[in-house]
Amino acid sequence: MTLSLVLFFIFGTLASHAISRTLPEAAIANKHEQWMARFGRVYENQSEKDKRFKIFKDNLEYIENFNNAGNRTYKLSINEFADFTHDEFLAARTGYKKRDNPTTTTTTSSFRYEAVTEVPTSLDWREKGAVTSVKDQGECGCCWAFSAVAAMEGIAQIKTGKLISMSEQQLLDCSTNGGNEGCNGGWMTNAFQYIIENQGLTTEENYPYVETQATCAMEKAQAQVTDISDYEEVPSNDEEALLKAVTNQPVSIAIDGSGRDFKFYSEGVFSGECGNSMSHAVTIIGYGTSEDGTKYWLIKNSWGESWGENGYMRILRDFDSPEGLCGLAEEASYPTI
Ligand SMILES: *[C@@H]1O[C@H](CO)[C@@H](O)[C@H](O)[C@H]1NC(C)=O
Ligand SMILES: *[C@@H]1O[C@H](CO)[C@@H](O)[C@H](O)[C@H]1NC(C)=O
Repeated sequence: MTLSLVLFFIFGTLASHAISRTLPEAAIANKHEQWMARFGRVYENQSEKDKRFKIFKDNLEYIENFNNAGNRTYKLSINEFADFTHDEFLAARTGYKKRDNPTTTTTTSSFRYEAVTEVPTSLDWREKGAVTSVKDQGECGCCWAFSAVAAMEGIAQIKTGKLISMSEQQLLDCSTNGGNEGCNGGWMTNAFQYIIENQGLTTEENYPYVETQATCAMEKAQAQVTDISDYEEVPSNDEEALLKAVTNQPVSIAIDGSGRDFKFYSEGVFSGECGNSMSHAVTIIGYGTSEDGTKYWLIKNSWGESWGENGYMRILRDFDSPEGLCGLAEEASYPTI
């Protein structure tokens, strides 16, 4: 071996250690145990544990390297999804159905906020009392129901002054119209259509969430508290139009939430890579500009309070492509009273 080759090996090895900053295996195993205790995770057998440890380790290293690079507008953290495979995550935590042919779903509805000119520089519907606490869809792909309900809770509070937590379970069980499939996915527009036909939606208390689809309980479904007259879709791929709508009420949106950074987002203004499927739905409940001048949307998710900023995410606004970051301006809608 020549000297230069030897040096190459020495420096090559040192360099790769320096870059990946790999934690010792025992330290990772320790973190895994702590994480299992925190999230109450129990594995059936050793081979299952080994498999989950590999996923955990891979995610942990990714997250530590990401945060150590320190040059992004947001941070990641290990959360309860740390040992999920990608497919498990998508099936359990998302649930917005892909359009067979997205280009044919051009908006035909009217847009009542077209002429809006008064747009404050920032807005947070939480401060105006129009947002209930963050909910958790658990292991059921029904983000669509949570997104629709958050928009319902918002417009009802704006119209009546009363904030009432409403029922996702009613939508899960009863809104099977238009291809909605409970924990296997659905669309908010179908949920709004069901609410119109049912002449309202009942409360969370009356029809509580049980994380699985069941038969529609008619007597509960008919104890409606909030009726809507219609729903509208925001013109697609237009963040300006979206802003006009959000100025007036919380808005349901579809989003590509399948990426690793989205999954492990913990704080800051998200500006990262998205995944490759419009598989999730959330609700925009405000917008603003961060201290460093980055414009953001404020979104309410349904993954509990341990994800993101107490269950919320700030995500880049006025992205340099019309569909918005992660496609957030592609399919937005809101109920009207
Ligand atoms: C270990 O548990 C997993 C699921 O938890 C199961 O699929 C697998 O068959 C089990 N393996 C053995 C050897 O029991
Ligand atoms: C951050 O730093 C990493 C490593 O130096 C680099 O690969 C990446 O492109 C940087 N990202 C940004 C947004 O500057």
